[in-house]
Amino acid sequence: MKILFIGSRLYNCVSDYVKTNNINSIISESNPNSINLDLPDKVYIVSRGMDEPMEIAIKENVDAVIPLIGIDLPLLDVGIMKDKLEKEHNIPVIASNESVANISINKYNTKNFFLKNNILTPDYYITTEKTLPKNTNYPVVLKQSVGQGGIGVFVAKNDKEAENYLINYDETIVEKFIDGYEISVEVLSWNNQAIPLSVVYKGKTTIEGIHPLEKIKNAPANIPGLSNKYAKELALKIVTTLGAEGSIDVDLIFEPSSGNLYAIEINTRPSGTRYLTAANSNINPLEELINMASGDWSLSSIESKFNDYLAMEIPVHNYKGPEKCVTDQYFIDSNSWVVHGPENYERVTIRAKNKNELNNILNLLNINL
Ligand SMILES: Nc1ncnc2c1ncn2[C@@H]1O[C@H](COP(=O)(O)OP(=O)(O)O)[C@@H](O)[C@H]1O
Ligand SMILES: [Mg+2]
Repeated sequence: MKILFIGSRLYNCVSDYVKTNNINSIISESNPNSINLDLPDKVYIVSRGMDEPMEIAIKENVDAVIPLIGIDLPLLDVGIMKDKLEKEHNIPVIASNESVANISINKYNTKNFFLKNNILTPDYYITTEKTLPKNTNYPVVLKQSVGQGGIGVFVAKNDKEAENYLINYDETIVEKFIDGYEISVEVLSWNNQAIPLSVVYKGKTTIEGIHPLEKIKNAPANIPGLSNKYAKELALKIVTTLGAEGSIDVDLIFEPSSGNLYAIEINTRPSGTRYLTAANSNINPLEELINMASGDWSLSSIESKFNDYLAMEIPVHNYKGPEKCVTDQYFIDSNSWVVHGPENYERVTIRAKNKNELNNILNLLNINL
């Protein structure tokens, strides 16, 4: 089995798994100074874009291609490559196709998709004006069609703030602010089969517009009035209706005052919540991409591994606790933790059997919540 991985930045998350499964690994990477280039069997430094990775896949006669890409920008090209490699060369690419990527990377297209398929999403309209109408009910969320990690997203509290934002853009999505709880659900999808993994709680929405990246998160979510079963069903419906493949993260906001669960966005790529998902469900989404590539992925294989640990992730910036953990990427049974993220942006994800054990680990790591 020979696999081409596109992008090295996330490769440390799977490198042990690749070795254990005796997979011949190739990485293509555009940044010669990137991390993890010492881990695979072979490395190609390429120019940006998917043309060269596609040539490598063909030349090396790989069995599958796994894009390990955590950003939106290249996903359209990945989709184009998938359509070509699968059709013309019979090489599976574990990712979404071009038409799906076109919906997920563009928030305007995503909103359209939700509306067309009767999936509840916050009310919105598009404006090219430099002021909002007089009857605007603040706060409102202002967004650009392209962006991630909160870039281009702003919660305006009054006309002045809205004008300061609108002046910078040709076109803006104006969305109703939902006062509620942010959750997300990672879904795995391959071969017309899909399964939701964990319901991750990412904090309350704030009018300061603080992105979940900055917040303490946990799984499973435990929000009064919200059924996790329903959240999983909704995420599954969104992914199957869209026809997305690989590892997909669906962002939702639950509004307690109405009981509504709104769909916000769909990220058709490995998600930042993958550590929480792995800690909670015992399913590591990136390892499952490899199982999809190997042809031994099925719903029953996932179901047989499922667990429901308590998981918590804390932004610690610079970890100062004891020696990281046995390995730095895997949870070992119960009561373990993983430190991840770049320097100054480190996060700790903890897996525990129960609340008591969770508190013990927090104490051990000197984390005061
Ligand atoms: N309709 C909304 N109501 C309240 N908060 C929102 C709304 N839309 C977005 N946000 C806040 O802004 C963040 C970023 O918005 P999102 O659409 O997910 O863009 P990004 O791609 O940058 O993550 C969300 O995680 C949430 O905190
Ligand atoms: Mg988001």
